[in-house]
Parts: sequence; C-alpha cells; structure tokens
Amino acid sequence: MLEFVDAKTRQRDAFRTDVLTGLARPQRTLPARWLYDDRGCELFEAITQLDEYYPTRTETAILSDNARQIANLCGRGAILLEYGAGAGVKTEIVLGTLEAPALYVPIDIAADFLEQTATRMRDRFPRLHVHPIATDFTSDFDIPAHVPAKHRVAFFPGSTIGNLDTAEALAFLQRMRRHVGPGGLAMIGADLKKYIPTLIAAYDDRDGVTAEFNLNLLARINRELSGNFALARFAHEARWNEAESAIEMHLVSLAEQNVTVAGHSFAFNDGETIHTESSRKYSIDSFSELAIESGWQVSATWTDADQRFALFGLSAV
Ligand code: TRP
Repeated sequence: MLEFVDAKTRQRDAFRTDVLTGLARPQRTLPARWLYDDRGCELFEAITQLDEYYPTRTETAILSDNARQIANLCGRGAILLEYGAGAGVKTEIVLGTLEAPALYVPIDIAADFLEQTATRMRDRFPRLHVHPIATDFTSDFDIPAHVPAKHRVAFFPGSTIGNLDTAEALAFLQRMRRHVGPGGLAMIGADLKKYIPTLIAAYDDRDGVTAEFNLNLLARINRELSGNFALARFAHEARWNEAESAIEMHLVSLAEQNVTVAGHSFAFNDGETIHTESSRKYSIDSFSELAIESGWQVSATWTDADQRFALFGLSAV
C-alpha cells in the first residue's frame, strides 16, 4: 500500500514538473503521456472507433488478411512481447493466428488495465502462458530472465511509434532489438503519409471526441495541480507539419488570458498554442530506413489496398 502511495506521489510530482516546465517554454509543450488518465483512456478508445479514424480498422484488417504469412514468419511456439497493451483486439487476432504461441508478455504502465488484459487472454487462450510486466515501455528496461530467450516476437501496433520523434523511435527500435535477441522478430504498425485533409480529419473528428480528449488534459491539470484553465477559452486544433511529416495536436488560446497552475501564473496571447502530441506519418521507405539503422532487416511489408497503413515484419540482423 505504501509503495502504491509513493508511486502515486512520484507520478503527481513528475506531472507537476512536466507541466510547469512545459508551459514556460516559448512553444508551450506538454508530454503526450499525460493525456492518458482514466477519462483520457476512455476517450482514446472512443477515438479508435470513429469513422474518420481509419488506422485502427485498417491495421486490424491487415492483421486478419495476412494471418497465414504472419504465422509463417513468426513460426511455432512464439513468445509475444507487446509494448503498451491496449484493449487487446489486435493481440487476440495475432495470438489466434500464430501456431501454438508459448507465452504472451504484455507490457504496460497501467497496472490495473494490464491485469484485466492478462486475465482476458488467459480465458481466451487456456494453453497460453501470460506474464505481464507493469512498467513504462518508453523507459529503458530489461525483459526478466524467466522469459525464455528463443522465439521472441516484439509486437508494437497502433502506430504508437509515430508518437515518438526520430531519436526516440531509433532508441525504441534498438531496445526492441535487444529485447528479442539474435534471431528475434518484430511486428510494427505505422501510419502512412497520405492526402492531408484525410489525416487532419482523423485527428479532428466532427463529433468532437478528439477535441474532448485533448481538452481533458487541461481538466486534469485543473483537478490534479490546482489549475484554473477555462476550458471554453481553449480550442483543439490538428495541424500538419510538413517538415516533420507529422500531425500535431495543439490547444489554442481563444483570448489573451492568465492561467494559474500550482501557484504559478502563465500569460497567454490570443491564438497562442500548447503543443500536446505529434503523430508522425511514414512512407514504406522512411520507416524501413529507420528499422535498418536500428539493427533490423525488413522481412515483410503488409499494407491495405489504399496504402493507408503498413505493418512491418522485422528480423534481427
Ligand atoms: N498512435 C496513434 C496515432 O498517432 C493513436 C493516437 C495517439 C491518437 N494519440 C492520439 C489518435 C490522439 C488520436 C488522437 O494515431
């Protein structure tokens, strides 16, 4: 219990530091991971169901449509390491596709959510062993020694790799390479660059769910850090940054205004923004280059007919 309290306090302190530092920068920026409190996770799941948000259903279809090839690449008795275990729909498809998978290792910082996923997979696949690891998958960590070294397959769907900048993505790909060891594999989903209005719509839906998701960060700051953001005086904006090949989510100040957070005051100009997340869009080539630079070889590239999304099968060199 004490440990739990400590973890909560540490988390609150980290949030406070990130917000106070981020709001003081010339381009105010808040790290995207703080978007995911309970309400944020709920809204995020709702986003993945939206008409405009094509990545989830496209990637799911790619996994189903290429089930046999995926099973062939992974081989018998695979050990699936999943980074950021989500609602588990894609995981079920992959585990259902593989030939006698031996072990499923979901890795996620949300410990309660992780246990739920583990229980569901045990029920769904009674012969599968499940060893959850409760840790922040973006930090540097090791896979525990009781996980057998052979047949490891790193699974990183959802284009979460796109939420990392280039240096972070390289470090992450290298870490996955280290985790699976020689002869190991990875399956990574990445959203592809396309017609800009299609991209913008995916991050600015007509029902305003993504807007609520983004604005929820200000509500969280108000609640957890004694902030006084007036949510009606900020607006969600999704914009395309060509130089970064990324969609950026911002919160735009709709007036000249002062905001207080944890006793610190911040003066906003009318139209000034807080950058809350980036979602990089790759090409098959740009992603392959990144993978090769990180010690992988591209063994398979699966896409949908419209080349909206790509799933990469990588082998450790
Ligand atoms: N990684 C996915 C993406 O960039 C999902 C995602 C992360 C997302 N943050 C989001 C989707 C914010 C919509 C809004 O697309």
